[in-house]
Amino acid sequence: MAVTDTLGRPLRDLRISVTDRCNFRCVYCMPKEVFGRDYRFLDRRELLTFEEIERLARTFVAHGVEKIRITGGEPLVRRDLERLVEKLSAIGGVDLTLTTNGSLLPQKARALREAGLRRVTVSLDSLDDDVFASMNDIDFPVQRVLEGIDAAAEAGLPVKVNMVVKRGVNEDSVLPMARLFRERGHILRFIEYMDVGHSNGWRLDDVVPAREIVAAVDAEFPLEPVEPNYRGEVARRWRYRDGSGEIGVIASLTHPFCGDCTRARLSAEGRLYTCLFAVRGHDLRAVLRGGADNGELHDEIGRIWGRRTDRYSEIRSQATAELEKVEMSYIGG
Ligand SMILES: C[S@@+](CC[C@H](N)C(=O)[O-])C[C@H]1O[C@@H](n2cnc3c(N)ncnc32)[C@H](O)[C@@H]1O
Ligand code: SF4
Repeated sequence: MAVTDTLGRPLRDLRISVTDRCNFRCVYCMPKEVFGRDYRFLDRRELLTFEEIERLARTFVAHGVEKIRITGGEPLVRRDLERLVEKLSAIGGVDLTLTTNGSLLPQKARALREAGLRRVTVSLDSLDDDVFASMNDIDFPVQRVLEGIDAAAEAGLPVKVNMVVKRGVNEDSVLPMARLFRERGHILRFIEYMDVGHSNGWRLDDVVPAREIVAAVDAEFPLEPVEPNYRGEVARRWRYRDGSGEIGVIASLTHPFCGDCTRARLSAEGRLYTCLFAVRGHDLRAVLRGGADNGELHDEIGRIWGRRTDRYSEIRSQATAELEKVEMSYIGG
């Protein structure tokens, strides 16, 4: 039977981080001052192996998970990732997707598709090279992300694009992004800048509320709201009235969605987090490597979910914003 938590929320989505490393240094996620040469990233032995990830994923699916997203850090920097995709797609009945900065998609898209990946989300914060460089902080050009998006589309992977909007940094990129991806037929999702982790120096003033973003797009391309696809869908959807596609907004700040949150997160070293804003995870790697059989593993995950009470975004306040939360690059967004 599907497990539910203390607030009656089922377990439906699993995000799996496969590495805490990344080739970008986005200022809102892995600022250079913190993630510099002295930062201690996880050691190879600390990472879950693909076999361990598969075993956990099968157990989550037995608990009701229908959707798995591979993330990171940058998931495509983990060697042979397509081997993991193959293992996860073999589970069957799972919507398998991946979030990436797109930089390695030109080399990887086809192999990922052939291994069974169903869809991909590519992050891109601006079409302006200077603005984008100021956000990825490694001078990565826009054109190469666009090439990654094209490579994915050509390989037959439906693409969504994620854009984090930060006040005073890339608000002016909202409309050009909407124009381009409306034309290309990819769904663009705007993400309110969130207070994840504690290294990005987040301030409420940096947040551009979703309603402001929607109003800006609506002024040029009239929009109408769309019903959610399923319970727990975090993006609020809007459709262009002329039938030319849709956009989404992920408004964790101004429209918390904890009440419907059906999502668990597994870190690259096998800690299970029941909330993006959690302070501590449950060490499933210790359970695995301690020799638990499948029944014990199943029961342990059921127990953790059954005790879940998280609703951080709904109770967010200055005090909770200052908690020592885990980093986005570690837990995987
Ligand atoms: C942590 S990244 C991992 C996957 C991949 N490296 C990428 O950038 O798509 C997942 C998503 O989280 C978003 N993200 C990171 N830090 C964020 C923050 N502070 N607020 C909102 N979104 C954030 C990224 O833009 C990206 O779309
Ligand atoms: S958002 Fe993605 S690409 Fe940017 S630093 Fe974080 S993990 Fe890397």
